[in-house]
Amino acid sequence: MIIARTIEELQEAKKSLTGSIGFVPTMGALHQGHLSLIRRARDENTHLIVSVFVNPTQFLEGEDLEAYPRKDDADIKICTLAGVDILFMPSIDVMYEKDELCIGAPAVRGYVLEGEKRPGHFDGMLQVVMKLLNLSGATHAYFGKKDAQQLALIMQMVKNYFMDVNIVPCDIVRDEKGLALSSRNVYLKDDEVERALALSQSLKKATHMILAKEFNVERIKKEMLSILSQTDKVEYVAIVNRDFQAIEEIEIGNTIILVAAWVGKPRLIDNLWI
Ligand code: PAF
Repeated sequence: MIIARTIEELQEAKKSLTGSIGFVPTMGALHQGHLSLIRRARDENTHLIVSVFVNPTQFLEGEDLEAYPRKDDADIKICTLAGVDILFMPSIDVMYEKDELCIGAPAVRGYVLEGEKRPGHFDGMLQVVMKLLNLSGATHAYFGKKDAQQLALIMQMVKNYFMDVNIVPCDIVRDEKGLALSSRNVYLKDDEVERALALSQSLKKATHMILAKEFNVERIKKEMLSILSQTDKVEYVAIVNRDFQAIEEIEIGNTIILVAAWVGKPRLIDNLWI
């Protein structure tokens, strides 16, 4: 595995690649969720590039940029074992210069839910994903459905900017109790792990209600909120169509149910695609 830390090193390492390039962008502290993307990208492509970069422009003032878990040595080992060809680990200076041209999240879809709670987050995320997709030369790039809105906006960016890359959505990976895997789960104290399960339990409740033919969004949300009262603060429970517009009735095949809540230090998100 080649570790590239500069653009030049990355371009040099890419020279020998022929065939499809699978790409998995990450912010490091790799867990089984990332590994499932990496394994799929490995299986489906001739070559595999992974990036580890904690992107400052997608963190808001007061968020956990400094404290964000960094595990470079472990990440290198994991990527080596997973058969990664090139691991791109740039510094901030490699990725950004002063007074940059920026792209922005769309005014509606980019400013609801996560975009409303974290204004500017998606601008920074799209900016770095655009850079990473261009740098990697990926034919296929893999993103988790856990960040549902991120995934939708990346797909929109690729479409709107006529970018030549296939975005591959990948299923959410959960632990044995149902907690969606996230690098931020390391912040959870033992007693908080149980309460964090409220997010996936509320989604399970929604599944059961829908299976029992309850399609009324308000009634489903009410039941979910009662389960989510175990968390410290619910930021939102939203039931939207795949364009992130509010709906009144569940539309099978076109609905996403999303939750965001605080449990102790971390703010957790989870979702269910119906
Ligand atoms: O989902 C993430 O880890 C990040 O938002 C990404 C896509 C790597 C961009 O920094």
